[in-house]
Amino acid sequence: QYEQQIEALLAQMTLAEKIGQMRQLHGTGETQQQLVREGNLGSVLNVIDADAHEIQRIAVEESRLGIPLLIGRDVIHGFRTIFPIPLGQAASFNPQLVREAARIAAREASASGINWTFAPMIDISRDPRWGRIAESCGEDAYLSSLMGVAMVEGFQGDDLTAPDAIAACAKHYVGYGASENGRDYNTAWIPEVLLRDVYLAPFKAAADAGVATMMSAFHDLNGVPTSGNEFTLRQILKGEWNYDGMVVSDWASVAEMIAHGYAADLRDAALKGVTAGVDMEMASTSYAEYLAALVESGALSLDLIDDAVRRVLRIKFRLGLFDQPYANAAAADSVVAPDHLALARQIAKESCVLLSNQQTLPLNPQQTRVAIVGPLANHAADQLGCWVFDGKPEDSQTPLQAIRELLGDERVQFAQGLPEARSLDQSLFGEAVAAAQTADVVIAFLGEDAGLSGEAHSRAFIDLPGAQLALVDALVATGKPVVAVVMAGRSLVLGELQDKVQAILYAWHPGTMAGPALADLLFGLDNPSGRLPISFPRTVGQVPIYYNRKNTGRPPSEDAPSIPTGTPLDPSGFTSSYLDVDHRPLFAFGYGLSYSTFSYSNLRLSSQKLAVGDTLSITTTVTNTGKYAGAEVVQLYIRDLVGCMTRPIKELKGFQRIHLEPGQSQTVTFELSSADLSFHNNAMQRIVEPGEFNLWVAPSSIGGLQASFELVAKSKEHRA
Ligand code: IFM
Repeated sequence: QYEQQIEALLAQMTLAEKIGQMRQLHGTGETQQQLVREGNLGSVLNVIDADAHEIQRIAVEESRLGIPLLIGRDVIHGFRTIFPIPLGQAASFNPQLVREAARIAAREASASGINWTFAPMIDISRDPRWGRIAESCGEDAYLSSLMGVAMVEGFQGDDLTAPDAIAACAKHYVGYGASENGRDYNTAWIPEVLLRDVYLAPFKAAADAGVATMMSAFHDLNGVPTSGNEFTLRQILKGEWNYDGMVVSDWASVAEMIAHGYAADLRDAALKGVTAGVDMEMASTSYAEYLAALVESGALSLDLIDDAVRRVLRIKFRLGLFDQPYANAAAADSVVAPDHLALARQIAKESCVLLSNQQTLPLNPQQTRVAIVGPLANHAADQLGCWVFDGKPEDSQTPLQAIRELLGDERVQFAQGLPEARSLDQSLFGEAVAAAQTADVVIAFLGEDAGLSGEAHSRAFIDLPGAQLALVDALVATGKPVVAVVMAGRSLVLGELQDKVQAILYAWHPGTMAGPALADLLFGLDNPSGRLPISFPRTVGQVPIYYNRKNTGRPPSEDAPSIPTGTPLDPSGFTSSYLDVDHRPLFAFGYGLSYSTFSYSNLRLSSQKLAVGDTLSITTTVTNTGKYAGAEVVQLYIRDLVGCMTRPIKELKGFQRIHLEPGQSQTVTFELSSADLSFHNNAMQRIVEPGEFNLWVAPSSIGGLQASFELVAKSKEHRA
């Protein structure tokens, strides 16, 4: 659509101006403003409001060609209204709500002059030690793809030129979540088949959904830094996928190729970055310093520069910046507006996962006297989670505030018990115990403060930090029932906590409306319905643990624990398990309880055979067999029993969130196409391979109703 305008503009640009478009700097000051004036800067990040207006004005009014700036910001899970961390949003299994949250985030950000967010982060994350798992949509390619697409659609809206739309950025391309040992920025080794089947899948989905930009990453993948990786960027993204959007580097990741030992110096880094397909360099200056000389010496083709500049300009045209470069003033009134807060409350509720409940929850809001305890009960900044630049604690309602509002001050005793989440100081335990003794039930708000997850915030121990378990012991010793609400940026190791308390509600970092959302759930005004987007390990020694693993030649039983014996002869035989811990996760992917119960019956397939190119209908009846209205997330898994490549023991292929009144039944239908069963073979061809399959319609990645079908070739050419 804009190609002629892009060409016309490109034809007028000097080499310096072209290189300027490939450059992004942080902040605004004399240096940045002068560069913009000279046409030597295409983008800034972390500049908002009046500063954004002024630097944009200089670009549009004072630079020779008047090319507007891309103004980027990490709007990761909300701008001023903060929604749950993306991992929590993924737990909602509700892409529609996730889309609406991103829509609101875009609208609020656009009011401050931001036209580009560095989100969604769709790196498959299977290692909870990694601090950035908080920003991800979890371990599964299917769920991450759906959630990533929902976020892209939300940020970008139906029309990217609309004043309240901002460009999205799928990051970090690719494989960052597989950083060894969960250590940030670390090396990742991912076999190509796994890369294509799992790690690339959400990026392909985002590209197909029209994501405006992508970000290369910090780490080296299979020996080549991702910001200099011709294979993933030039060959797959821009070649095989024909992606015509723009790639920005991560912060200084082009220059960091020197530290990786992949580039000799900045000149070499610039050459490798552009050659690989990084169109814009964030923060570091190798492009600004060396691209002109590289082109003039013939070491770098001008065609590659032109290709990069076209992509940058294309995004600016697609955003409509040449017509409307400034902040979306009309959206200013909507920032933290009541409807935004209402959505934040709803998605926070749907993201919470009830992990255990010994019939303690829900609590009676009319009668219960509660002791509110714990370092996260009344800490607004911590409930917002990581990557919050613009959300304000003062816009937030904490659990303590909301529960006081619901019950009245007289039925709520508050004692924090620990000065902060990581504290080992037990001097406040006495107050907490005294509060517990006056109450019918203790609600302990535990977990991680916001600083324990996010970039460069990895942990080797993923237990409850500080003296939190000791605090729980002191509370339990009062004999009062204890409900734990855990806020965290990752899956934590919770076995000990589970053994001590009557219920665990896992809230991630729920955002601005944490308080009202949790009060609604704890007191039964709403019913928990979140499901885990990651498997919860029993111990960090099980990491990485994920549901769609391979079977091995000596599979342990999925239905029975591999009981630790302390001897080398495990009773289950020489199977792929542990001597000292059950091999299974503590809580499985897709798991989550409700105050109600749901039964599954009458699983029917439209046929026992699915021909290649056709679709199978799978129907089940789900009934609410409990006392409470609530939502159930009905999940479809398959297993390809024999393949030319070993296949995972389960793969999520669909889910539906349904709402049922007590006693109500609903028929749920999934359509499974043969293309849904495809995978890459060792020759990197995407194939659909005839054979036997199992499928499950289930409440989680464990259990459910099972059936089988056969995928059959329609004609000779479909035979593998
Ligand atoms: O968007 C982020 C990225 O995820 C990590 N490094 C910095 C970028 C810009 O803030």
